[in-house]
Formats: sequence, C-alpha cells, structure tokens
Amino acid sequence: MTVDSAPLAPTVWWARTSDADSRLLHLLDEGELARNARFRQQADRDRHLLGRSLARLALADLAGCPPEKVTFDLRCRSCEDKERTGARGGDAEPHGKPHPSGPAQGLEISVSHSGDWVGLAVSEGVPVGIDVEGVSAARDVEGLADYTLAEAERRAWLLLPAEERVSAFFGYWARKEALLKATGLGLSGGLRRVAVSPPHTPARLLSWEGGGGPDAAWLSDLDRGADYRSALAVLTDRPVEVVVRSPRDTAALLGS
Ligand SMILES: CC(C)(COP(=O)(O)OP(=O)(O)OC[C@H]1O[C@@H](n2cnc3c(N)ncnc32)[C@H](O)[C@@H]1OP(=O)(O)O)[C@@H](O)C(=O)NCCC(=O)NCCS
Ligand SMILES: [Zn+2]
Repeated sequence: MTVDSAPLAPTVWWARTSDADSRLLHLLDEGELARNARFRQQADRDRHLLGRSLARLALADLAGCPPEKVTFDLRCRSCEDKERTGARGGDAEPHGKPHPSGPAQGLEISVSHSGDWVGLAVSEGVPVGIDVEGVSAARDVEGLADYTLAEAERRAWLLLPAEERVSAFFGYWARKEALLKATGLGLSGGLRRVAVSPPHTPARLLSWEGGGGPDAAWLSDLDRGADYRSALAVLTDRPVEVVVRSPRDTAALLGS
C-alpha cells in the first residue's frame, strides 16, 4: 500500500459539558479568557472552556510540548475570500476556524458544542470539520428548512414520515455544517449551497453550488444518542478510519 492510499485516522474526543472545571482555566490564553468571561451563561462558558482545553491538551500530546506552547491562529475563509475580491476590508476582530500554530502547526482541528456535548476532531495535515446539534422540537424546523436545505434535500425531507422530520432536519444540518467548518467558511459559506445525501443513506457530499467547495470530501455521521445529531467531514480522497476516544481517555486527558 502506498502512503497516499493508507487510511487517515482522525481522532474524535467527546467531553460532557459537566466535565468543565475551573482548574482548566489556566490552559486558556489571555484572549480566550476574555472571550470566556463575555459569555452570559455558565453553560456557554463551560462549553468554550472545554473546547479550548481539550484542543490544547490533545495537540500538546501529539506535538510533544507543554499545552501552553500550543497557540491558534483564527482564520475565517468567508472573510478572506471577500478581502481577496475587495468586497470587504480586514478590520474585523480575529474570528473563524482555529488553526494550530507553534509546535502544533500542521495539525488540524475542529470544535463543536451543543447542549451536553463538546466535540473535538484532530487530524494530521488534512482539514477536518465536526458538528453536533441538539434535536429540538421547539425550533420551527419547517421555517428553517426553507432557507437551510438545498432544493433536492428539501424534497427528500418532505417525503419523510412527519415524526422523523425534526431529527432528520438536524441530521442534514450537522452533515452540512461539518463540511462548511472543515473548509473554514463556516455558516457564511451558505448552508443551502451544500447538498448532502438523505437520512438513512451513508453520509456523502453531493454538490456545492456556485463553486468554492473542496476538491474532495469524506463525510460520516457520528453517534451521540437520539437527542443529538453529529457529523465529521475530512477534506480528503483517501480512505478514513475515525478513532473515537473513550470517556476514560477524555477524563485522563482533562486530568479529571
Ligand atoms: C462559527 C460557526 C461555524 C459555529 O457554529 P455553531 O453551530 O454555532 O457552533 P459550534 O459549536 O458547532 O462551533 C463553534 C466552533 O467553531 C469554530 N469556528 C468558528 N468559526 C469557524 C469557521 N469559519 N470555520 C470552522 N470552524 C469555525 C470555533 O472553534 C468555535 O468554537 P469556539 O467559539 O469555542 O472557539 C457558525 O456560527 C458561523 O459560521 N458563524 C459565523 C457567522 C458570522 O458571524 N459571520 C460574520 C463573520 S464571517
Ligand atoms: Zn468572517
């Protein structure tokens, strides 16, 4: 087997929001601490703290350096694309996808949080995107579907039994957002432009309207139980074998 056809093995870590502990705050840099303090809700502070802590600890382990040496450059591809075409000046506060820098440069990560869960995906040299969404019947999914699902997705979604629609909607959303996060475009890339395969079929990117999509993308659902939908995107044409770390590994990484 040549190196290029060897499977990639991105790692996924899951922490529970309740794993957050103020002892982790020393892992955040000044900017992250300031951002953390700006969240109004404790649960949002906990999810942000866990996302950054998990990322720093997992990257430090891979790079063989102390966690405080791991730094992140924030890059938003939507804003970079606009700046390149002169449509927008580069005056916004740094935001967007965190790219590891310092000793962890070359590793790629993605973070997602929702409700009880904080997810981290890590890969070597290949962009990854993770998304987790809480299935919420309280949301107006019919209305959301109109402007988030691509035409073919919406048609397939409406054919589903009514009782499946809410969770299927969040399944679509997670698959699409995982792809948008892998590219660094984020939601500004346009959920409707990205069309993925229907529920009950293997996750797959079908089309990316208007260009700007990745040359290759591998996509899979991740299991977070019936109350959540989650997906992982890896921008590669190579085979992928995801390694999901155990709760015990996560506890050991967080020192809890
Ligand atoms: C950022 C975004 C992708 C997050 O989606 P979400 O479902 O609300 O939240 P998730 O928990 O799944 O993901 C949050 C994480 O995504 C990461 N992220 C932020 N921007 C990203 C981007 N452009 N691409 C990939 N990942 C991004 C961050 O790590 C963030 O975690 P943090 O805030 O703890 O650092 C989405 O809200 C978005 O694109 N927002 C941008 C809209 C906007 O403000 N546009 C104007 C400037 S472009
Ligand atoms: Zn931006």
